[in-house]
Amino acid sequence: MASPQGTGPMKGIVLAGGAGTRLYPITQVASKQLQPVYDKPMIYYPLATLLEAGITDVLLISTPDDLPRFRALLGDGSRWGFTIRYAPQPRPEGIAQAFLIGEDFVDGDPVCLILGDNIFYGGSETERAVAEFESGALIFGYPVRNPRRYGVVELDADGNVVSLVEKPERPRSNLAVPGLYVYDARVVDLARALRPSARGELEITDLNRAYLELGELRVVRLSRGVAWLDSGTHDSLLDAANYVATIEHRQGTKIACIEEIAYRRGLITRDHLAALVAAMPPSGYREYLERVVLAEEFTG
Ligand code: DAU
Repeated sequence: MASPQGTGPMKGIVLAGGAGTRLYPITQVASKQLQPVYDKPMIYYPLATLLEAGITDVLLISTPDDLPRFRALLGDGSRWGFTIRYAPQPRPEGIAQAFLIGEDFVDGDPVCLILGDNIFYGGSETERAVAEFESGALIFGYPVRNPRRYGVVELDADGNVVSLVEKPERPRSNLAVPGLYVYDARVVDLARALRPSARGELEITDLNRAYLELGELRVVRLSRGVAWLDSGTHDSLLDAANYVATIEHRQGTKIACIEEIAYRRGLITRDHLAALVAAMPPSGYREYLERVVLAEEFTG
């Protein structure tokens, strides 16, 4: 996990701004990433992905209007044994802008960016790839039926990148690039060199292409065992909620339960978890965590 400069451990940025227009009118009430995905706010899922990858220093970027609500929900992270800081993105000027907003936060360390509406579940491929990251850029490839909506990567037989295109009319592969990216500290300078695209945004795909041109872009193909869901439309939001509910009911465990992850990763003690649970109002969420505290559930 060390950066090429050998500085600090990997940091995490959650980008949770944007207009959320595709979810209108529910985004009139709260931003997209605060909407529920079954039994918890959407933002819990990307946060959980970062925690599972061993990242405990997080910057959350959102609109100036929405930041206070994220802060009210998550605080400074200390009650869960990690750190969350906040920074505003006044206008949605592109995903890659996260590294300009987060320049001081990155501060020479490797950094993992996750989009606030991306949900990953199952397998440990993402966690492992992030943990083993050394330098350059790391992105993922995930087979989807309709790649046109995404960044699309084409690989040769050896796994080398042949092409990388944002929302291509005619995709050259079915491999979409999910909203989870890992970079070394050069990302800030490379983001600064980007120019806005035709739609006026600093494109994450252009940033990845900059690494590609340096010969330092690696793509890990995610297997079928991993579920990658996005939740940016009414239907995909409902699908994601149904997916989470189905797994949780079937297995009797929770996906992206921040308190449980913090406890299992040793960020908080059992006593600390018990105190958090005692302060929760009666709910299915609390009942679940009561079982975790009592270690009644099966962990095998
Ligand atoms: O979900 C993965 C896809 O995300 C990638 O395959 C694409 O390469 C990437 O461009 C992106 O595509 P989207 O069309 O989903 O991007 P969108 O503009 O919807 O932004 C994704 C999330 O990031 C969304 O929750 C809002 C947030 N965002 C976006 C922009 C452009 C911000 O917070 N600030 C921004 O400036």
